[in-house]
Amino acid sequence: MASDLSPIDKAKFVAAKQASQYVEDGMKVGLGTGSTAAWLVRCLGERVQDEGLRFTGVPTSSRTAALAREVGIDVISLDEAKWLDLSIDGADEYDGNLNLIKGGGGALLQEKIVATASDQMVVIADASKSVETLGGFPLPLEVVPFGWQTTKVLVEETLVGMDVLGRKVTLRMNAEAPFYTDEGNHILDLHLNRIGNARQLSLVLNQIPGVVENGLFIDICDIVVIGHGDGRVEMRDINEGSINETRIEFVETDNLFADLGE
Ligand code: 5RP
Repeated sequence: MASDLSPIDKAKFVAAKQASQYVEDGMKVGLGTGSTAAWLVRCLGERVQDEGLRFTGVPTSSRTAALAREVGIDVISLDEAKWLDLSIDGADEYDGNLNLIKGGGGALLQEKIVATASDQMVVIADASKSVETLGGFPLPLEVVPFGWQTTKVLVEETLVGMDVLGRKVTLRMNAEAPFYTDEGNHILDLHLNRIGNARQLSLVLNQIPGVVENGLFIDICDIVVIGHGDGRVEMRDINEGSINETRIEFVETDNLFADLGE
């Protein structure tokens, strides 16, 4: 039930609920990954059931695909969709220019491809994800398993010349074994503490052989929808330079709050 949710979960829920209103009949929509994106998928499933909303979703992970199908959303691949009207996803950090760190859930590669193939990217987040400067959250880097230890050394050497405060690099684990992404790759987490020049770092990291993609989303996000635990929601649009606020009331609907996953 809504009253059992933590303030952070309430914040994620209201951001997702508000952002679900951006979806219109006939749209092709990228569906993000993570706990906030899972709320979005549930809210969209509710709109499909209650309002007869008809749209197609392009999921950014196998987890999101399974949840979307479960709640009655028509799912197609990006190749079938080709181009999207909108993608809505969570983030690990966003700054004042709506540049992001993503990949905490290990889905950054599909998320970046999908967001880049969308007319508009909307990020949904609780207010704790807001930062002055990116880098407090470890930057995820997707690398191919072949020679990953050599790639790690190359990454560490590259970081020596970069404007960052920390340089520790760790292999993401899943219990005792290395974590595998949906693409069959590993994730290196870069503990940088502060990223002085995110655009430059993103370009340089992607030049290293073995690196598939990094979790910096520069100039990709258009709108951030920020939820608060008391139901307030703030929408910041970087293109319009506007900030709007609204409030979502918590309604105890069985189908949304009964089966809380992730
Ligand atoms: C997954 C992501 C997520 O969007 C990010 O980790 C935020 O997750 P959550 O909504 O659970 O806080 O980038 O790869």
